[in-house]
Amino acid sequence: MAAFEVRVPDIGDFKDVPVIEVLVKPGDSVKKDDSLLTLESDKATMEVPAPSSGTVKTILVKVGDKVSEGVAILTFEGDAAAKAEAPATKAAPPQPKAPPAPQAAAPAAAAAQPAASAAPIAPAPALAAPDSGTPPHASPGVRRFARELGVEVAKVSGSGPKGRILKDDIQNFVKQALSGGAAPSAAARAGGMSDLGLPAWPKVDFAKFGPIETKPLTRIQKISGPALSRNWVMIPHVTQFDEADITELEAFRAKVNEENAKSGVKITPLAFLIKAVVAALKKYPTLNSSLDGDNLVVKQYWNIGFAADTPNGLVVPVVKSADQKGVIEIAIETSDLAAKAREGKLGPADMQGGTFSISSLGGIGGTAFTPIVNAPEVAILGVSKAAMKPVWNGKEFAPRLMMPLSLSYDHRVVDGALGARFTSFLAQVIADLRRGML
Ligand code: COA
Repeated sequence: MAAFEVRVPDIGDFKDVPVIEVLVKPGDSVKKDDSLLTLESDKATMEVPAPSSGTVKTILVKVGDKVSEGVAILTFEGDAAAKAEAPATKAAPPQPKAPPAPQAAAPAAAAAQPAASAAPIAPAPALAAPDSGTPPHASPGVRRFARELGVEVAKVSGSGPKGRILKDDIQNFVKQALSGGAAPSAAARAGGMSDLGLPAWPKVDFAKFGPIETKPLTRIQKISGPALSRNWVMIPHVTQFDEADITELEAFRAKVNEENAKSGVKITPLAFLIKAVVAALKKYPTLNSSLDGDNLVVKQYWNIGFAADTPNGLVVPVVKSADQKGVIEIAIETSDLAAKAREGKLGPADMQGGTFSISSLGGIGGTAFTPIVNAPEVAILGVSKAAMKPVWNGKEFAPRLMMPLSLSYDHRVVDGALGARFTSFLAQVIADLRRGML
């Protein structure tokens, strides 16, 4: 055993390649070919393997550093002979990186928009293939994907070359876990647990206790159910509640509807809500974004989905470019989309491209609820039934029509303070739509 520096091997024509992951820390014992660190150029992802079995002493680089062939990345105590004969391992020809995994379809919107099947990310051209017997390898992109979903890579079986774990393997693992642990590990089975460490789903013969009727789930329920479960489990939700004073807005809406009575167009609160939401999203663009690995993709278009209740289940048609449309135009569009939804005639294009969703239960009832974020969006607004309330105006209690708002957001992206600022501003805009024009 001798101490020596491990350097970046031959990585072809690449220079100044960023370090995106340091996979070891001082004191770690590694086996020959275990990955030490990951480099990612704009064309390929590469892992630098350990030259021999040994111990990591010090790390000489950090995430974000740019390195080229020959740069020392860590000091290592191992087989000096291996060092001597482990020169520049030739990197596998860089494979073009796969396009980013399509974000899985929105849960409810998934009805006629099944999650696009994700193209497996091309396995990283690792600089050295693992020995058989070493834990299965996964590319950094796949490992990152697994981390985002809370999956331990070690528990996943790889279906790629040499047991490499592919993105599909992670997705299948999650699907199985969500469907009640369809393929639990032997140990988990023995203990009656799913791979998520949860007890198996209870199996009860309901007919033993009384008459039953078994109905198959609708197509929409079958598609949206797993997506809703995924979003509920994977997204750290927080729900912020607020109230908007819609006394003036409702008086205005009644007046406009009266004036337009002959046109046959009826404006419901939803159309105003969509406009107000766009104004709030423009002020707080973080809520109009999606997470993509370590990046936040902030959209500069405002496509607002709204949950529509149909006999077959929930769907989320999308009003595109809502910022460029007037309230009457939006009212016509939501009414047309809701009618299409009820008739089961929405096409995939009607439900794609949303940047934020509204779930309005105001026409039905309730005082508040906690909607599930419609991934890959990061926030959803729940709206409940407006009610007259005594509101203190500084001198007296005045009767005001108050509409409850429930904003659920992905806490990885939206902080509590931002969530509260958003709902508070939204309530102000709803109370006086002129604020949305400022
Ligand atoms: N408070 C009080 N009344 C409200 C309201 C609110 N927040 N929102 C709507 N209303 C009223 C409307 O003004 C209308 O009353 P009116 O006929 O006296 O004018 C009535 O409720 C019915 O409105 P609705 O037909 O529901 O229109 P809408 O534009 O508000 O909603 C849909 C359209 C498609 C959103 C709605 O029909 C729907 O499907 N909602 C359910 C969504 C859902 O299931 N969400 C749950 C997701 S988990």
